[in-house]
Amino acid sequence: MSSTLTVSGGVPLRGSVTVRGAKNFVSKAMVASLLGETTSRLRNVPAIRDVGVVRGLLELHGVDVSEGVEDGELVLDPSNVEVANVADIDAHAGASRIPVLFCGPLVHRLGSAFIPDLGGCRIGDRPINYHLDVLRQFGAVVEKLPSGIAISAPRRLRGTRLELPYPSVGTTEQVLLTAVRAEGVTELRNAAIEPEIADLIAVLQKMGAIISVDTDRVIRVEGVDALTGYDHRALPDRIEAASWASAALATGGDVYVEGARQPDMMTFLNVFRKIGGAFTVDDHGIRFTHPGGPLRSIALETDVHPGFMTDWQQPLVVALTQAQGLSIVHETVYENRMGFTDALVRMGATIQVYRECLGSTPCRFGAQDFRHSAVISGPTRLRGAEIEVPDLRGGFSHLIAALAAEGTSRVHGIDLIDRGYEHFQDKLDGLGAVVSRESAPVPAVA
Ligand code: EPU
Repeated sequence: MSSTLTVSGGVPLRGSVTVRGAKNFVSKAMVASLLGETTSRLRNVPAIRDVGVVRGLLELHGVDVSEGVEDGELVLDPSNVEVANVADIDAHAGASRIPVLFCGPLVHRLGSAFIPDLGGCRIGDRPINYHLDVLRQFGAVVEKLPSGIAISAPRRLRGTRLELPYPSVGTTEQVLLTAVRAEGVTELRNAAIEPEIADLIAVLQKMGAIISVDTDRVIRVEGVDALTGYDHRALPDRIEAASWASAALATGGDVYVEGARQPDMMTFLNVFRKIGGAFTVDDHGIRFTHPGGPLRSIALETDVHPGFMTDWQQPLVVALTQAQGLSIVHETVYENRMGFTDALVRMGATIQVYRECLGSTPCRFGAQDFRHSAVISGPTRLRGAEIEVPDLRGGFSHLIAALAAEGTSRVHGIDLIDRGYEHFQDKLDGLGAVVSRESAPVPAVA
């Protein structure tokens, strides 16, 4: 099914929403359950499609996954882990990038793993060369097949000294999930240190792993022979929280985000304040408001943690169309995350995208001819339009634009947003948005 959301814009969002566990942590914690000899319990799990994809893959490998007594609790029993049928795994091809993280745990448990072609948002080439390089350095044999990648280990994987060319989130997780049960010590330099990674380290430590995070992006893991299950409450989704904050600002509204946590959002909060948004933090969440008056433009560069997250960029750009003057956004994490601005321009925004690096943060894309910097001139009135959702965060940004625009928009393909935003339509209803959804079957492809 392909769904379209009809949005009557121009209504400030007011009210409160709750964010649950972070999409980009929960999926990894579910994979970690494969490493334990006993049952794991993961709490605060959102009902999003990516969770369903990982659940399906775990079940294919013999993990028994069930709902716990608490709302949002998953119970994962890995006592019967088994080799899955390649065709069944392949049926999940294209659905998500998470399968690549099954490599280390499956090789530890079964001696081999098969990974289908990967999906995930089309926001750049998104290769997995770093993942395969580190697996080889642990002693795995990596074989590329027409339908995917086969990984095996003739002997137990061995700890090793590694240095990443770039602090990749996924590759750091790959190293953690592999090193905890490898023989000996692993030292990872230039590691990613996102809060979601810190929470994964907490999970692994509960399971019996020995991991230290040293200064300067160095992570050391002492391998152990066996791990147990864990009981853990997922950290809240700071990307979803910032998305609702940006929606509040762009629509001139007032949204309390229950579950949002200040320490994980410091960099976002600084930017939110600099452009003229207001927020108040209490013990349970953060309230984001547009205090009235003009918003201010800003120069911004995305970066790895503790920098400004790339996933915060797209929703915030919509709010920047309402700021006075020229804002500059330099995207340094993905080479192709500015395509969503085309639809904003059709809606009346003034945005120019450049191949040059418009900023001083070291960036891999300036020399490579990628349109990865944007100049946004505001404020501009947005008008309703027909929009096709390009990717998860770009799609939510289009939704924000439609909510802020005058008139009616039809946002097509919003099922993509279900991948990472739990019950977003109910939340929009609760905030006073005027939206309705229609679903149509996808036409058969000849
Ligand atoms: N990269 C490579 N080779 C690799 C791996 C990464 O060149 O083998 C490059 C990527 O192409 C990209 C950069 O390194 O240019 C960073 O990629 P990273 O590995 O850090 O990203 P990821 O692990 O694939 C996760 C999130 C993304 C989020 C990024 C950055 C998940 C499932 N995805 O991706 O989330 O943008 O970290 O924080 O955790 C989203 O939620 O919408 C989303 C895209």
